[in-house]
Amino acid sequence: MGGRKSVAGGGPATLKSQAICVSSMPSLIDTFTAAGQGHVFAHLDRLPETARQRLLSEAAEIDLAEIDRLVKSLVNASSPATVDLRDLTPAPYVSRPEHGGDRSAWEKARAVGEQALRAGRVAAFTVAGGQGTRLGYDGPKGTFAVTPITRKSLFQVFAEKIRSAGRRYGRPIHWFIMTSHQNHEATESFFKENHSFGLDAGHVHFFRQGRMPAVDFNGRILLAEQDAIAMSPDGHGGSLRALERSGALDLMKSEGVDVISYFQVDNPLVRCIDPAFVGWHLLSNSEMSSKMVPKAYAGEKVGHFCMQRGRLVVVEYSDLPVAMQQEVDPGTQRLRYLAGSIAIHMLDREFVRRMASGTDTALPFHRADKKIPCVDAAGNPVRPAKPNGVKFEMFVFDALPFARNPVVIETRREDDFSPVKNAEGIDSPKTCRDDQLRQFARWFKAAGIALPVDASGLPTFALEISPLFADDEGSFAAAWARLAPKPELREGLCLA
Ligand code: UTP
Repeated sequence: MGGRKSVAGGGPATLKSQAICVSSMPSLIDTFTAAGQGHVFAHLDRLPETARQRLLSEAAEIDLAEIDRLVKSLVNASSPATVDLRDLTPAPYVSRPEHGGDRSAWEKARAVGEQALRAGRVAAFTVAGGQGTRLGYDGPKGTFAVTPITRKSLFQVFAEKIRSAGRRYGRPIHWFIMTSHQNHEATESFFKENHSFGLDAGHVHFFRQGRMPAVDFNGRILLAEQDAIAMSPDGHGGSLRALERSGALDLMKSEGVDVISYFQVDNPLVRCIDPAFVGWHLLSNSEMSSKMVPKAYAGEKVGHFCMQRGRLVVVEYSDLPVAMQQEVDPGTQRLRYLAGSIAIHMLDREFVRRMASGTDTALPFHRADKKIPCVDAAGNPVRPAKPNGVKFEMFVFDALPFARNPVVIETRREDDFSPVKNAEGIDSPKTCRDDQLRQFARWFKAAGIALPVDASGLPTFALEISPLFADDEGSFAAAWARLAPKPELREGLCLA
């Protein structure tokens, strides 16, 4: 497990591996057999010693009681679990000043956030353990090139934003990156090869998330190979227990960090470190805070922030009836369920610990039916054409109902959200590149320079602004004013 960091003043600190204890072979096999999962070892006798050990060590990772519970509740249940939609109302949120929010309250929040950043209380946290199947890119998604001219990777964009914030607030910012078993080594190597993109390697911390076995529709654990269980990452919600198990929370504590700025690896527009968001989180005494954008249209495929019996919940678009998605508020004439979730959160460190350790605060698992390559009882490979099994995943937003004082604040989509999810179409490399270009053009415009743009605000030539040059409108105006001589505004302009 990745530990290449040292802690200022406290000597080297290494994040822990998830403990895997290989119990003695007969008792492990007996336990699996008693649980109806003995077929996992069907090919054991034919395997060479190293392969046997690997299979046994994977098996030892599995919590059979948990699998049994999930199979009973999610796989064998006579009718599929339905989402409780009773008593839902739209969740309140803090509006931006241009939508009626209190400007002085936003300014106060920003000042409070800046103070916390200057005190070194905030860490960045990226969940990068996903499989990225929709993008179809071979490699950790964070290594995918996204910027228009210099083709910086997602990880480099975040690194530069975090470096820039560290410089601004006079404190280097710790960055925690959650990987998966599949992409951990490749992620670490990428950072090593690129000298952590100018960050102090001692402030960049990698840890693997947990994984879960996939099962067939009868609840039997699937084998990916004769010597390997079909394991997959346990969802972004697995980040809470992985933060605890890896020792990341302890490291944060020893470094004086109590606010965790959570974002996904696929969104280069995200403000990794947003002082106003930190401030709203702290001023609200919130354990888990969220950013919302007003939905672009009724059927947009985002989660909806709702209240349910006094608790904040996110209801996925697939679970909210179309009629509710389309409901219009008679007062504002806007969608009633307007607040869309963009998976950007602020987490209180000790809230994460509580969520990770408590049984009554455990996140639920969700069922996803997938095509899972596997081997059959005779050990022959099966490449299914349709879903043949179930993966279990946790979602981070399921922690919201457990959080004290969860606050939701509005953000401008064009300043915080343009994910790369699909190879083509919406949320693709092309839409993300265009959104970056539009943002650069808006910054120029705010500084008094009108770049030639089309009706959608897209500049007619490609350019790039490094987060080290500027990371928002205000810092751009200041950096541009200092620049002498001014460069020519033309195709390929790079401000670094
Ligand atoms: P997505 O829901 O987009 O899933 O993840 P994905 O696995 O990356 O992509 P597809 O669905 O296979 O195409 C949203 C964010 O959550 C992280 C991803 O890395 C991404 O930042 N994630 C997802 C994890 O860290 N672990 C997981 O188990 C799942």
